[in-house]
Amino acid sequence: MSRKILTFVLAAGLVASSVPLTATADNHTPNENADHAFDNKVIKKIDADRMYNHIALLSENPREAGTQGEYKAVQYIKNEFESYGYDTELQPFTFQEWDGGTSTLSFNDQAFSGDPHTFNGSVNASVQAPLEYVGLGSSEEVGSDVEGKIALIERGSYTFYDKVQNVMDKGAVGVIMFNGENQSGNHFGYTYDEQDIPAVAITREAGLKLVERLKTEQVTTTLTVKNAGTIDKTSYNVIATKEPHKKKDNGQIVMIGSHHDSVAGGPGANDDASGVSAVLELAKIMAKTPTDTELRFMTFGAEEKGLVGSYHYANSLSQEEVDRTVAQFQMDMVGSRDAGDLIMFTPDGQKNLVTDLGAAAGARVAEVVEYGQLGRSDHVPFFQRGIPAALFIHAPLEPWYHSPQDTLDKISKEKLKETTEIVGAAVYQIARPNTPALENAEVAPGPVHYEFDDRPL
Ligand code: BES
Ligand code: ZN
Repeated sequence: MSRKILTFVLAAGLVASSVPLTATADNHTPNENADHAFDNKVIKKIDADRMYNHIALLSENPREAGTQGEYKAVQYIKNEFESYGYDTELQPFTFQEWDGGTSTLSFNDQAFSGDPHTFNGSVNASVQAPLEYVGLGSSEEVGSDVEGKIALIERGSYTFYDKVQNVMDKGAVGVIMFNGENQSGNHFGYTYDEQDIPAVAITREAGLKLVERLKTEQVTTTLTVKNAGTIDKTSYNVIATKEPHKKKDNGQIVMIGSHHDSVAGGPGANDDASGVSAVLELAKIMAKTPTDTELRFMTFGAEEKGLVGSYHYANSLSQEEVDRTVAQFQMDMVGSRDAGDLIMFTPDGQKNLVTDLGAAAGARVAEVVEYGQLGRSDHVPFFQRGIPAALFIHAPLEPWYHSPQDTLDKISKEKLKETTEIVGAAVYQIARPNTPALENAEVAPGPVHYEFDDRPL
């Protein structure tokens, strides 16, 4: 059955498999009309232009965690939340980042004109020794000739770990690796604990020149890595809390999240200024809408560094708060013109309360939303604490993901609006005052049928 037909059937409030395709739009159940009225209280207020404007401002500069760019975004988000009337908390946290310091090379006392890149994890050291070319650095290629020398290795075929380990095992004192075929630049390379010789990366051109040179002369090499190491950086989560109506507090908490940081050098219009714009828009609308549920609107920092902000936040929740939290909705990359359909992803690929609400809301306001299995965003730490959580994202991905081309012009207002409507309707479904408990909800819509989708991203 096509998605459209399925949606139509589901919109009639019936179970897909038992319904003839001749069902008409008049088959609304009383509940369903009520649901639409409730949905409309939220979704009619969603303004895609306002969301687009947030993205425009946020994507003027990259927002890499720990940088001024992130801090500016954090202030913007906090000011917005406060202007809607929310108590807003900035939750700072530290994360560690590798800093390659400065590395230098010289060959037969002549300084290398390029700029070597320090391997992530390299020790600080200065060594002087003859250079020895060992091909790709496999255990077969590396002989005892490399003992006491600096190994020149080509990137490719084997892991960084194996290459470095193979030359270390034979007594090499340093590593220079040049880039592989058809690979440009020199930003690559890792060493691991216990691999305690300095290691740097150079371009393929520079490496091939050295290979040629070694055919006719010995090249005494000085390799120095200085001031490399991990440094502490500070990032922030931004949290705005909407208290429930005093007389109708059901004790439940619903969380609506996104991440405000971008990758280095990327404007991150879709990833994830789009999600931030959706969180801000829903916060603005819900500020004036009474609920019986506490709502927490949040944007996380350092998601791109390994979900650091959301782990920090989720792990800072007391068990009592976790027990009261019934749902976490994560919106990440919700506006790309060039991505596919909206899918709800859970880390274990199982449905949960969030996906049930999302699928039902989708069927009411647009079309049924399918679910799939994926981590890779801030829903993971909540899931790990036992909170029903799902990532709302379009799949397959757009080609601009994590690139400098993730810019405002790639944002579709329609996609932004539709995703925000679906999440807004789902949130309001459980937060509105006349659904005091999920099981006993007076006017809860019936469950809808939605399917697992394992499309590649
Ligand atoms: N928005 C992405 C998540 C994503 C990417 C979901 C591609 C689906 C497909 C997120 O910002 C991201 O890039 N996450 C990292 C993982 C994280 C642990 C650093 C990723 O997927 O590489
Ligand atoms: Zn993201």
